[in-house]
Amino acid sequence: MSKRARIAVIGAGGIGAAAHLPAIEALHDEVELVAIVDPDEGRRTAAGERFGCEALYADATTMLAEVSPDIAVVATPPHLHEPLAIEAMRAGAWVYCEKPLTGSLASADRIAAAEAETGRWCVTVSQFRYSGGSRQVERGLRDGRWGRPLLGISHTNWFRGPEYWDAPWRGKFATEFGGSTTTQAYHAVDLLLWLMGGDWASVGGVAETISRPIEVEDASVASVRFASGAIASVVSTVLSHDPVTRLEVVAEKASVRLETLYLPLLAEWTVRTIGEGDAAVVVDDWAEDEPEMLVNAHRAQLAELVAAWRADVRPQLTTEESRATLEFLTALYKSSAEGRVIARGEIGPGDPFYEALDAAGPTRAEARRG
Ligand SMILES: NC(=O)c1ccc[n+]([C@@H]2O[C@H](COP(=O)([O-])OP(=O)(O)OC[C@H]3O[C@@H](n4cnc5c(N)ncnc54)[C@H](O)[C@@H]3O)[C@@H](O)[C@H]2O)c1
Repeated sequence: MSKRARIAVIGAGGIGAAAHLPAIEALHDEVELVAIVDPDEGRRTAAGERFGCEALYADATTMLAEVSPDIAVVATPPHLHEPLAIEAMRAGAWVYCEKPLTGSLASADRIAAAEAETGRWCVTVSQFRYSGGSRQVERGLRDGRWGRPLLGISHTNWFRGPEYWDAPWRGKFATEFGGSTTTQAYHAVDLLLWLMGGDWASVGGVAETISRPIEVEDASVASVRFASGAIASVVSTVLSHDPVTRLEVVAEKASVRLETLYLPLLAEWTVRTIGEGDAAVVVDDWAEDEPEMLVNAHRAQLAELVAAWRADVRPQLTTEESRATLEFLTALYKSSAEGRVIARGEIGPGDPFYEALDAAGPTRAEARRG
């Protein structure tokens, strides 16, 4: 058996303990957990005991110097992603970083520069692309079976109660960067843009803090144009009393729909086509059964990353690829602030939105405080 990749987890909080550490445990033939970093002693100790790791650190700098992992998972609050990802790459590690990758296009470009400088890769978690059914749906749309995508719909209608914002980094521009659009809808937006072909060309939207006592938005709506001529509608909120993630792609020969909450499963996708008498007919032979691996998306993406690391080839979702989703989110916020449609490629150095995902945020927060 080839050498196992030595992996360190930086951030053993919610998603670190719930998704990354179990993913590493499940892939024990491929990877070895070599360290856990968290300044919170209780969390790192609990994670160490549960996942059988004695190399526990309060800070990443010491861990990187002493352990020198092959791969570093970054699962900290978003404002720490850039410095930790760059530091880990400079210490020789590939990085598997939680979403959102970072808080601005300028910051993403610094991470990309560090990839070029070090020859290491920083991969953003894009778990809906790896969830049950997603890859098979993408294939059906790409190989011509269902024709080209014409119209996309993505609704991330979730609920978050007041206690959600007890974590000090949540709800604030400086540490979370964005709200329902960036934090909650990230995966559905990323999946929709990918399924539509990745060629989003412009976006017009509104992002607002309507109800919750937070700085970042609690709802947004947007209209999107694609270079192909397709269009899409994107909605996000944390105010819903009927939580659901709904996604639909209307293609030339079929409509593909997903209805789920947090982790899409193959069974939650339906494909329909118009049959005799213009009645919708369910297509039931489009998917093959999927291995257990694909049910846990963090694990499926990690397995792919480890395979790329072993082969020393560029993995999926390096900074250049996830930057396209970040740029889309930035353009949505800029559109909301400026009341006009924003074209892809328009936001560059010198634009305040190049420096901050939601450059309008502090202004909006001040306006709310009145
Ligand atoms: N992919 C998903 O489905 C998903 C779900 C939830 C959260 N997330 C993302 O994961 C990230 C973390 O979110 P969370 O809900 O786990 O947050 P959390 O607050 O529960 O956990 C973050 C952990 O990072 C630790 N930490 C803080 N500073 C650190 C440092 N310098 N070095 C190491 N550890 C440090 C904290 O002590 C905490 O334990 C965010 O970017 C969030 O958007 C992704």
